[in-house]
Amino acid sequence: MKLVGLVGWRGMVGSVLMQRMQQEGDFAEIEPVFFSTSNAGGKAPAMAKNESTLKDANDIEALKRCDIILTCQGGDYTSEIFPKLRAAGWNGYWIDAASTLRMKDDAIIVLDPVNLDVIKNALSRGVKNYIGGNCTVSCMLMGLGGLFQHDLVDWLTSMTYQAASGGGAQHMRELLTQFGSINAEVKSLLDDPASAILEIDRKVLAKQHSFSEEETKQFGVPLAGNLIPWIDKDLGNGQSREEWKGGAETNKILGRGEGFGVSAKPAIAVDGLCVRIGAMRCHSQALTIKLRKDVPLDEINDILASNNQWAKVVPNTREASMKDLTPAAVTGSLTIPVGRLRKMQMGGEYLSAFTVGDQLLWGAAEPLRRMLRIVLD
Ligand code: HSE
Repeated sequence: MKLVGLVGWRGMVGSVLMQRMQQEGDFAEIEPVFFSTSNAGGKAPAMAKNESTLKDANDIEALKRCDIILTCQGGDYTSEIFPKLRAAGWNGYWIDAASTLRMKDDAIIVLDPVNLDVIKNALSRGVKNYIGGNCTVSCMLMGLGGLFQHDLVDWLTSMTYQAASGGGAQHMRELLTQFGSINAEVKSLLDDPASAILEIDRKVLAKQHSFSEEETKQFGVPLAGNLIPWIDKDLGNGQSREEWKGGAETNKILGRGEGFGVSAKPAIAVDGLCVRIGAMRCHSQALTIKLRKDVPLDEINDILASNNQWAKVVPNTREASMKDLTPAAVTGSLTIPVGRLRKMQMGGEYLSAFTVGDQLLWGAAEPLRRMLRIVLD
């Protein structure tokens, strides 16, 4: 059995990954070695077999024993450890949730329901680094995979509604704490049906404006009752890094554009605005898709629904959209609903769509555990 080193398994993404691996019986197929950055020598979790103690996640010799390393420890860990491990001659498979290595030439972004061909080709070439994609990109591609598979997308814009979890566990806590203190501020007025709504509104705003540094430590500004139209670094050209990832990673996942050889199809223009909203762990996106030709809507529905078992077309009705196309409906599920499908006023080649995905599942943990299974097969 392959020795699989697990790093960062206790964090938010790591915990979701462990849950999914247990649900899918992945531990029966491996000899897991649990690593820790803070508790080496401690007791490994119940899924451990022969390797019953935690190993030091900074110990290159201990890591080198593994055939495969699966890490959710984050970008700083990858930057620090990965080069040392390779320099020490380790030639195992590195499967990683962090973005650090994603755009490297010797790394593949994994999302096998969409790019199994790219993954298989890389495995046969001896590529050893397999990295999970940006959550928004992965969720979008899982929903719209059919359109890309049929090469129907001329260009696409994505306006995102990204959940607090994209920032991390502390960001989710901060959002809820902010909601709580806003509520506490106006609780007595809310309890009084005769109170004036504009007075409530004034107090909410005053509270948001007076949040302490501690209360906005993660997001920098209030998110509760607010939104933040910028995610990740400022690239200095008017685009955020999250927005840049939309185009760069989509094309890399699909194996399109520069870097994929002369026979590769040209890159597809993908761009948009990324916005943080007060949802917990589902990223949503409104898409405008310019199709290469005017494909009838019923055909589009079939193409989307038949691409993978998780994409689910939601009828473009008020009732179905409200019931099935929301973060609250999708959280905890691998289903990626795609709805609001209609041809836009601009013409038959212009398609609107709205999709929602759990960013901890398809956006983070799921492609990694599936990649592990692909390596094991
Ligand atoms: N960059 C994403 C976000 C996280 O901030 O929502 C997952 O890739």
